[in-house]
Amino acid sequence: MASEIVYIERFARTERAVHWVHATAFFGLLATGLVLYVPRLSILVGRRPLLKNLHVYTAVGWIAALVLVVVLGDRRRLRQTVRDLDEFDGDDLIWLRRRPAPQGRFNAGQKINAALTAAFGLLFAVSGSLLWLGERDHRFQFASTIMLHDWLMYVSLVLLIGHLYLALIYPATRHSLRGMISGSVRSDWAERHHSKWVREQRQ
Ligand code: HEM
Ligand code: HEM
Repeated sequence: MASEIVYIERFARTERAVHWVHATAFFGLLATGLVLYVPRLSILVGRRPLLKNLHVYTAVGWIAALVLVVVLGDRRRLRQTVRDLDEFDGDDLIWLRRRPAPQGRFNAGQKINAALTAAFGLLFAVSGSLLWLGERDHRFQFASTIMLHDWLMYVSLVLLIGHLYLALIYPATRHSLRGMISGSVRSDWAERHHSKWVREQRQ
């Protein structure tokens, strides 16, 4: 007899909202930023002042939407997610040395990705605000601000390509997309990738 497929909840609505708000804004900022950055695209599209405004309005929308999700959403759940992402144990170190080790709700790679995403978000916002202020007041002009903003974009792009490969293409991990869209994943998949988390759920 075929065994029944069992699903378990992986991401609540608030967590999914934070992820998709961040992802949507990031793509908007990346697209407008790249048109500003790549000379061929800049010439092709033209209308630089409009693009600059679009870029900055997307940034403001991104921060406002994240604040709104946190204020209106399930903050207890978000605090739990932050704790899950923050805990780094011996199994995570073993896993990073590419040896098999049971993982919690997030594996060590995902914890590093989340920490970098949060740090980069902050650095993008600080450097972007300085670029905007620097155009209006010379006291905020620093030679390295644009370099920082550009480097953040390069590294984010590499991280994003890896992230998309794991979420959309790599057969062993792409089932995770179901969790980020509908909220739940198959329990046998979760058991294979996040066994410590599944055990905690059963307690
Ligand atoms: C709060 C977030 C952000 C703010 C406030 C912000 C603001 C700005 C501003 C004011 C500029 C200067 C435009 C100019 O003078 O030509 C700029 C340029 C740019 N931004 Fe952002 N930005 C943010 C996030 C991002 C993100 C997430 C990315 C990419 C993933 C990005 C990529 C770029 C690029 C590629 C440029 C062109 C830089 C160059 O010409 O060398 N920005 N940004
Ligand atoms: C179409 C675009 C995207 C897809 C399909 C996607 C997919 C996913 C999926 C399926 C997960 C859950 C993995 C799990 O089960 O634990 C996830 C988590 C996450 N995503 Fe995305 N994502 C996208 C864009 C982005 C962007 C643009 C960023 C940041 C710039 C981002 C940052 C994160 C972070 C920090 C996590 C939690 C840690 C991790 O799983 O690495 N995502 N994403």
